[in-house]
Amino acid sequence: MSDSNSGQIDNVMQEDRLFPPAASFSEKAVIKSMDDYQQLYDRVKADPEAYWEAEAKSELHWFEPFDSVLQKDGIDVRWFDGGKTNICYNCIDRNIDAGHGDQDAIIWEGEPGDTRTLTYNQLHHEVCKFANVLKGLGVGQGDVVSIYMPMTPEIAIAMLACVRIGAIHSVIFAGFSAEAIADRNNDASAKVQLTADGLWRRGKIIPLKQTVDAALEKSPTVEHCIVLKRVENDCDMTNGRDHWWHDLTSEASDDCPATPLDSEATSFILYTSGSTGKPKGIRHTTAGYNLWAKKTFQWVFDWRPDDIYWCTADCGWITGHSYIVYGPLAAGATMLMYEGAPNFPAEDRFWDLVEKYKVSILYTAPTAIRAFVKWGDQHIDKHDLSSLRLLGTVGEGINPDTWIWYHEKIGGGRCPIVDTWWQTETGGIMMSPLPGAIPTKPGSCTKPLPGVVPKIVDESLEPVGVNQGGMLCIAEPWPGMLRGIWGDEERFKEQYWSTVPGCYLTGDNARLDDDGYYWIMGRIDDVINVSGHRLSTIEVESAMVSHPNVAECAAVGRPHDIKGQAIAVFITLKDVEASDAIRDELKLHVRKEIGALAVPDDIRFCEAVPKTRSGKIMRRLLRDIAAGREAAGDTSTLEDFSVLAKLRGDED
Ligand code: WTA
Repeated sequence: MSDSNSGQIDNVMQEDRLFPPAASFSEKAVIKSMDDYQQLYDRVKADPEAYWEAEAKSELHWFEPFDSVLQKDGIDVRWFDGGKTNICYNCIDRNIDAGHGDQDAIIWEGEPGDTRTLTYNQLHHEVCKFANVLKGLGVGQGDVVSIYMPMTPEIAIAMLACVRIGAIHSVIFAGFSAEAIADRNNDASAKVQLTADGLWRRGKIIPLKQTVDAALEKSPTVEHCIVLKRVENDCDMTNGRDHWWHDLTSEASDDCPATPLDSEATSFILYTSGSTGKPKGIRHTTAGYNLWAKKTFQWVFDWRPDDIYWCTADCGWITGHSYIVYGPLAAGATMLMYEGAPNFPAEDRFWDLVEKYKVSILYTAPTAIRAFVKWGDQHIDKHDLSSLRLLGTVGEGINPDTWIWYHEKIGGGRCPIVDTWWQTETGGIMMSPLPGAIPTKPGSCTKPLPGVVPKIVDESLEPVGVNQGGMLCIAEPWPGMLRGIWGDEERFKEQYWSTVPGCYLTGDNARLDDDGYYWIMGRIDDVINVSGHRLSTIEVESAMVSHPNVAECAAVGRPHDIKGQAIAVFITLKDVEASDAIRDELKLHVRKEIGALAVPDDIRFCEAVPKTRSGKIMRRLLRDIAAGREAAGDTSTLEDFSVLAKLRGDED
C-alpha cells in the first residue's frame, strides 16, 4: 500500500478468480474471443469516424443522409450532423419493414398476474394512435411531455409516441412525490402530463393520479393530463384538463408517419440528482443515442433471435430507457416487461417469471441480488432456471461474493455475468465484459466497449499507475454521450468538463489492474481518507459482505481527530442477531481481508440500509448520521432508517 498523497486511492482488494466464457457460448457469440474484441477496439480507436459512419448507415434508417460523422467544438459535440432519422421508426417500422411485424416485441405481466403481448405490428398500431392523440392536444416538435406512469406497455408506447413526433419526454419515476414532479415539470416547462389512475405495488394500489393532481397545482405550464386506467380506482378528473387515455385513443387514427428529425434533435431529458442542489435534466439527442443504445445492446447482451430478454429496471431510470425501450427494440428483440415487486405474492416472483417465459437474458441490479441472497435459496430452488444463458448487473458495484452467488445460484455456474458500468449521462453501457470474449473477474466491469476511451488521473491530473485508483474520465466523444443539462449550460460545463481539460469527468473513481481490467471504486465524493490512505467504499463493503452473516453493508467516512477520517459501516445481518460478539468478529474479518487500516471504528446494525429510489445506498444521509451520533456506534440497537429515508425520498 502506498503512502502517496497525490490523490490516488489505495487498492486493497485482491480478487484473483477468473471466469472465461465457455467455448459453447463463445462459438455463437457476436464477439467470440479476446482477439476479436481487441481488434475491434483498436480499429474503432484508430478511426472512430470511419467505424461510426458505416455503423450509422447500416443500423439506422435515414430520411436524409448526414453530412459529417463527428463535429467537435470544445464541449459542443455533434454526431451525424445534417442527417434526419427517427428513433421510433428505427425501433418499430424498420423491424416491420424487415419482415418481423408478427414477432413479439413486448411480453408483459402485471403484478396481479394479468398478461399482454404486443407484436411489432401491434406496437406500431398503438404508438401511432397515441402519437396522434398527442398531436391532437397540440403537442409538436420540441414540446416536453412529462410521464409519470406504471410499468405497463403504455409507458413504452408513450415514450415511443413522443419520439415519433419529435416531442421530448421526461419520464419521472412513479414513486416520486408531487413536489418532485412539479419541480421537474417546471424546470422542463412540460406541456402535457401522462399518468394513470394508479399502480399495483405489493398487492396495494398506489394512487398516482392523486399525486399528479397535487403536482399540477404547482405546474403552470402543463395544459393537459392524460390518464390511463390501470387499477380502476376513483379519481378526480378536471374538466378540460384531464382526459382518459382510452377515450382519446379510441377515436385516434393509427396513421402517423414518423417525423424526420435532425440527428441532434433532443430526444428526451431525464432528471438525475447531483451531489448538490436541484436535479439536473440530462439531455440526450437522436441519432447518436439511438445507435449507441442499439450497438451496446447487441454487443453486451449478445442478443440472438430466439432470446427472451428481461431487464428488471423501471422506465423511470436510464436503464429502462436504453435497455427496456430503445436498445432492445432497435435491435428487434423480444422482451419481458414486469410491472411489480420482486416479492409479490412471494419472494420467488422473479424466478417464477423466468421459468414461465423461459427468459434467457436477465439484467438486474446488485441491490436486488443482495435481497435475493437474504431471502434465501429455497425461493430459487423451486424453479427451473435452465433457460437462462446470460446474466447482467447495473447501477452500482457488485461485491465479489454476491457475484459468485449470482453466478452459481441463478446462473447455474454456466451463465457469463456482464457487470455493466455506465451512467444516465453516458446514454448506454461504457464498460462491460463482452460475454463471449472477455473472461470475467467478480467485481470488475472489465474492459471499455469499442469507442470508449477511459483515462484515470489523480488530483494533479497526472495519469495514475497500474492498481492506483483515481478519477475516471472519458477522453474521446462517443455517440451516446449527453449533450447538455436542460436549461443549464454553465452547470454542464462546470460539472463534467472543467476538472480535467478535454475530458468528460464521470464523477467515479476507478483503477486499472495488471491485466488491463477496470474496477469502479465508488463516487469521488465517497472516498474515505484514513490517516492519509484513501480507501474506496466498494472495497470496504465487499470485504464485509464476504462474511457469511452480512447481507448488506454501506461504508462511509466520519471525522476523526487523529486519523482524519474513521470508517463507519452500516450492516444488515442475516441468520444472526446483532451483538457485541458479531461486531468483534466482523472487525477481525476486515482485518484479515484487508488489513488493520480498514477496520471500522463504528459498526452499526440496521434492518435495511437506506436506499434511493433507484436502489443506490444513500451515503450522504449515512455520512450525516455517522458524523452526528458517534456515541451511538457502540450500542447494538438496530437503526431504523425508514423515516429518514422517506424524508429524503425525493433523491434518486
Ligand atoms: C454507479 C445507471 C459500479 C456509478 C446506469 C455511476 C456502477 C452511477 C455500475 C450512475 C457498475 C453504475 N459498477 N458502479 N457496474 N453501474 N454504477 O446515472 O457510480 O443511475 O456513476 O446510471 O452508478 O448511476 P445512474
